[in-house]
Amino acid sequence: MIVTTADLYKVAYGKFAVGAYNINNAEQTMGLFRGCIQSHAPFIIQISKGARKYTDKRMLEAIIRSAGEIFPEAIYAVHLDHGDEETCYECIDSGFYSSVMIDASHETFDENVAITRRVVDRAHARGISVEAELGMLGGVEEDIAVDEGHACLTNPEEAVEFVKRTGCDALAAAIGTSHGAYKFKGQQSLHFNVIEEIQRKIPGTPIVMHGSSSVPQEEVRRINAAAGKLDPSARGVNEEEYLPAAKLGVTKVNIDTDGRLVWTRVHREYFRDHPGEFDFRPPGKIFMDEYAKFIAHKNGKLGSAGQLSAIRDWLSERATETVAATAMAAMT
Ligand code: G3H
Ligand code: 13P
Ligand code: ZN
Repeated sequence: MIVTTADLYKVAYGKFAVGAYNINNAEQTMGLFRGCIQSHAPFIIQISKGARKYTDKRMLEAIIRSAGEIFPEAIYAVHLDHGDEETCYECIDSGFYSSVMIDASHETFDENVAITRRVVDRAHARGISVEAELGMLGGVEEDIAVDEGHACLTNPEEAVEFVKRTGCDALAAAIGTSHGAYKFKGQQSLHFNVIEEIQRKIPGTPIVMHGSSSVPQEEVRRINAAAGKLDPSARGVNEEEYLPAAKLGVTKVNIDTDGRLVWTRVHREYFRDHPGEFDFRPPGKIFMDEYAKFIAHKNGKLGSAGQLSAIRDWLSERATETVAATAMAAMT
């Protein structure tokens, strides 16, 4: 069942983080749904501009609709990841998305506010929530490269003004992470002081952590043992920091790179071990199983595993209250 991202935030805020996983194809989608069902977790499906172009945006929507029929017990939201203004409008108007992200973080503060405000107005008119970014992560975001020297952490003072002026529903904050496989050199830790300060200043606003992959060393080792050439110094976010961050308001945790590593490891090992093989379905099946395992593991670390019933209870309580309120209104 597709729910609003805002509903997921309401149940999760301050308690656990909802995993937001990028998808590009049917295999990832199957693995994602299976992993979330196995771990009884709600989740957010993220679609980037690149993913919308990879096959065709209608193809992805159809895949998600089919997955919803195959797994009727799943509870999830559908989100546009790193949208520009035009793509946000397309997704808002499509009626398929639960939320959009407007990423104007590379603009000046005032321009970022102005663009975000326009998107918020249009999204809220359709009941869709908006995530907006303030501060800059290092690494590459879609076609915009931000080298580490230009990455800057979110200023909590500015965050207050930004949320107030834009009316955004969730804040993507730069708290020490970056996109891709090479996030940390040396110390591998989130800037908890920045997260704490943001939460103290704007309590109740869900914080979104981009660049949250953990880049497991074992995956990098196995990929390289199968003729990959990843830099073995690759480091990601320490998974043990997901839950402490969630308790401080980090409610949506974006993970893409780790899933790509699973795909690369499975396919490299498969074709190394079966050099005469050219049917893509055997490794595809292994990938779906491995991806499901990976998702269930992540949900365990995020604290979202086991939360499906909490979401269901909350949704049914709200439905009961709405029915009661409608009945009262009809009597008066
Ligand atoms: O933050 C970006 C996500 O990892 C999506 O990556 O733009 O290559 O689909 P993509
Ligand atoms: P990773 O590159 O760490 O997986 O981050 C993904 C992300 O932030 C998508 O928006
Ligand atoms: Zn991101």
